[in-house]
Amino acid sequence: MANRTDNSIRCSISKKPNDGMIFVVAIFAGLVIGFLSGISFPTMSLTKMNFTSSILPSVHVEDEKAKKSSNTSPQNEFNSTDAAFQKIWVPSNPRGSEMLPPSIVRAESDFYLRRLWGLPKDDLPAVKPKYLVAFTVAYGQRNNIDACVKKFSDNFTIVLFHYDGKTSEYDEFEWSKRAIHVSVPKQTKWWYAKRFLHPDIVAPYDYIFIWDEDLGVKNFDAEEYIKIVKKHGLEISQPAVESQKSITWKITKRIPGVEVHKEVEEKPGRCNNPQLPPCAGFIEIMAPVFSRDSWRCVWHMIQNDLVHGWGLDFALRKCVEPAHEKIGVVDSQWIIHQKITSLADQGTAQVGKTAFQGVRDRCKLEWTMFQNRMTESEKKYLKEITSASSNSTLT
Ligand SMILES: *[C@@H]1O[C@H](CO)[C@@H](O)[C@H](O)[C@H]1NC(C)=O
Ligand SMILES: *[C@@H]1O[C@H](CO)[C@@H](O)[C@H](O)[C@H]1NC(C)=O
Ligand SMILES: *[C@@H]1O[C@H](CO)[C@@H](O)[C@H](O)[C@H]1NC(C)=O
Ligand SMILES: *[C@@H]1O[C@H](CO)[C@@H](O)[C@H](O)[C@H]1NC(C)=O
Repeated sequence: MANRTDNSIRCSISKKPNDGMIFVVAIFAGLVIGFLSGISFPTMSLTKMNFTSSILPSVHVEDEKAKKSSNTSPQNEFNSTDAAFQKIWVPSNPRGSEMLPPSIVRAESDFYLRRLWGLPKDDLPAVKPKYLVAFTVAYGQRNNIDACVKKFSDNFTIVLFHYDGKTSEYDEFEWSKRAIHVSVPKQTKWWYAKRFLHPDIVAPYDYIFIWDEDLGVKNFDAEEYIKIVKKHGLEISQPAVESQKSITWKITKRIPGVEVHKEVEEKPGRCNNPQLPPCAGFIEIMAPVFSRDSWRCVWHMIQNDLVHGWGLDFALRKCVEPAHEKIGVVDSQWIIHQKITSLADQGTAQVGKTAFQGVRDRCKLEWTMFQNRMTESEKKYLKEITSASSNSTLT
């Protein structure tokens, strides 16, 4: 899975347009050859093998389609189902798959591991994992990750995003065999989430945990957590936090003796509206938990280039309605924020800036950029809506 398109490679390609052209031509030639061999394959194999007539029509459809793009009239050459001779176009299929009969389309996938033998239907356990937890990790944190994973039952699919390239080292942990390991150097949690947790890929999971690696889980149990989240109808949530150091946003702080809280009183001036972030409708991005539906929305909001995700927490409320009721913090299952900044230290020192500072500045910049994009998008949309409605009133 390693994907090392770093900037130096990209730049050198763009400096030599000829290489790029050769590359494109090679792909094109490959496509043509592939296409031709695809067409000739059925004919060749038909002469060599004895196909039963039930197989023939489905092969025939391909030829029919290539020759005539309009309605094909069934010639009754082969007496089989008419469907095999119809041109298929199903607009309600997922984009790009309209030519397929709908019941063959599998628009969603999962992370379930399968065997190479036996019957596919017997591959999976009777109770399939219904929840998913993804940690973004470096090997240095392995003992903490081990402790975390043990707080998640077999009802969880475990995904590890390795940002330091170390994966097989986790073999010492029994659970590692059933985990999904994705290794791409020096990327962030939100970079991985955007690329590997597409809502159609994680569709079977009721809840998705996208967690940092430095969380203390002594007082946390994932099954219990989910029970509480369901009970309180939380679509987006996080466990409450205890920390030796100061906590940035008060809403994340644990309130002892309470099961869940959804709002707090912040420092004066921080909240214009008590139902809006950071007083309500708000959690931090350190240990978020999303329902399937809310994740489908949030995934679409994540920007490909804003990899630190700063500012995302303030916008989560746009994905659930009403946000001040469906976003909340679970106090009875809580975590300890240990504040180890290992990914931040993986930056590159620049002139006049430490690696850590460079990453920190980028985080802040991304926050501003994200906010601006959101504001612009909303303005643009509102403008379009008003112009459309004023046009329709004119006519
Ligand atoms: C195809 O079928 C014919 C007659 O049914 C038979 O003689 C021939 O051996 C078969 N060829 C193959 C490759 O099975
Ligand atoms: C073709 O199928 C129809 C029914 O769909 C049947 O009436 C007819 O006898 C079949 N013809 C041949 C040649 O098998
Ligand atoms: C896993 O889920 C099943 C079905 O919801 C439940 O009965 C079982 O107790 C869960 N396992 C654990 C370890 O909690
Ligand atoms: C509204 O009308 C203006 C001027 O005729 C046109 O440019 C614009 O595209 C229309 N907007 C919509 C949404 O139809």
